[in-house]
Amino acid sequence: PRFWLVVPAAGIGQRMNAGCPKQYLRIRGRFLLDITLSRLLEHDLFIDCVVPLHSADTWWSDTEASHNARVITCRGGGERIDSVLSALVTIEDRAQAGDWILVHDVARPCVSHDDLTRLVTELVEHPVGGLLAAPVTDTLKVAEMGDQGVDVCGTQDRSRLWRALTPQMFRYGDLKQALEQAVENQCVVTDEASAIEMAGATPRIVEGRPDNIKVTLPADLAMAEFILGQLEA
Ligand code: C5P
Repeated sequence: PRFWLVVPAAGIGQRMNAGCPKQYLRIRGRFLLDITLSRLLEHDLFIDCVVPLHSADTWWSDTEASHNARVITCRGGGERIDSVLSALVTIEDRAQAGDWILVHDVARPCVSHDDLTRLVTELVEHPVGGLLAAPVTDTLKVAEMGDQGVDVCGTQDRSRLWRALTPQMFRYGDLKQALEQAVENQCVVTDEASAIEMAGATPRIVEGRPDNIKVTLPADLAMAEFILGQLEA
């Protein structure tokens, strides 16, 4: 089997409020993007890695990754799904329908080597593919805006809920078709698995470490630094 890596990095990190997109924040002097990519590319698994970037990105040329011959960039889109599709189109001439595509958020630098290895080993023979996910530990409420404030409408059954992490791993042909369909139908898709689900297939969950966090808010950066220290220890 052949493997490709897609690391969407075209987001502008609005929630971080940092003056630069979150992938270009630094931990111990290194860009988040470089930490994420170098952790994944330590595995010799991938033919190439495609990184969709924002059209107004001015930081890329300062990264370590920009010097890596196995990393190619493309222009991202308005939503994450558009960025991933753009990456798939970029390798259209070289990828085969049955090749595995691993999509990983640039904002998840704490992905562990063991999790990546287990994801690939457990899914490589699977007909659909799947994703790393971690059981939910909080109680989750469904709520809506009431007259005076936010009112609870219900509580989810926590025993059935998982947090979708990345990498998510699907076959090139299936993923491209599912994402194109989701765009066409204007579906809200915040990960690859949901597009595959909408196409009628059943992704498999591989339980991953809960500390594979997505750096979204300023406090997450300190947390990521701590977790990276633990992973390296
Ligand atoms: O905003 P959020 O944290 O959900 O973004 C998840 C990932 O998708 C990030 O790696 C971000 O850079 C990427 N993204 C993208 N293109 C967009 C929006 C988000 O590549 N238009």
